[in-house]
Amino acid sequence: MPDSPRSTRPAPPPEPVAVTLTVNGAERTLKIAPWTSLLDALRLHLDLTGTKKGCDHGQCGACTVLVDGRRINACLTLAVMQEGRSVTTVEGLARGDALHPLQEAFIACDALQCGYCTPGQLCSAAGLLAEGKARSDDDIRELMSGNICRCGAYPGIVAAIRSVMNRRATDGDAP
Ligand code: FES
Ligand code: FES
Repeated sequence: MPDSPRSTRPAPPPEPVAVTLTVNGAERTLKIAPWTSLLDALRLHLDLTGTKKGCDHGQCGACTVLVDGRRINACLTLAVMQEGRSVTTVEGLARGDALHPLQEAFIACDALQCGYCTPGQLCSAAGLLAEGKARSDDDIRELMSGNICRCGAYPGIVAAIRSVMNRRATDGDAP
């Protein structure tokens, strides 16, 4: 019997779509399912596993990356929504063998324990510095409140960010 126009047969899945992103300075084109999150695009399609998946629901900050210099939760955005944009992950913070000042400060201030939250903390801190709104430790705590650390390394994280802020204020260093 031919299908009626009101057939309940499920629609075929959509075709993969092409998405072009500049990731850590290199242009990358992916063919992915349209519902692929930016987080899964980075981890599963580009092998950039430095960006972590914690909750996958926008609640922990482990997946924080920079898009056009602004920090976002990569689990809460589709890769297709970032077409043409520049994405920086934790793998893109260092310059060759030279660690980013925040990476150096996290080591110096013992700002991690297991390290699972650290890529997100670093990218979020880089975004915080670029925003230029933090003036005090309380500001840092407030503006980093979207990044959860189950190990409780918060004192070291605040100290590390504070040390880079201080250095930037003193010598005009732009981390
Ligand atoms: S994995 Fe994205 S906020 Fe938790
Ligand atoms: S260092 Fe372990 S979750 Fe933050």
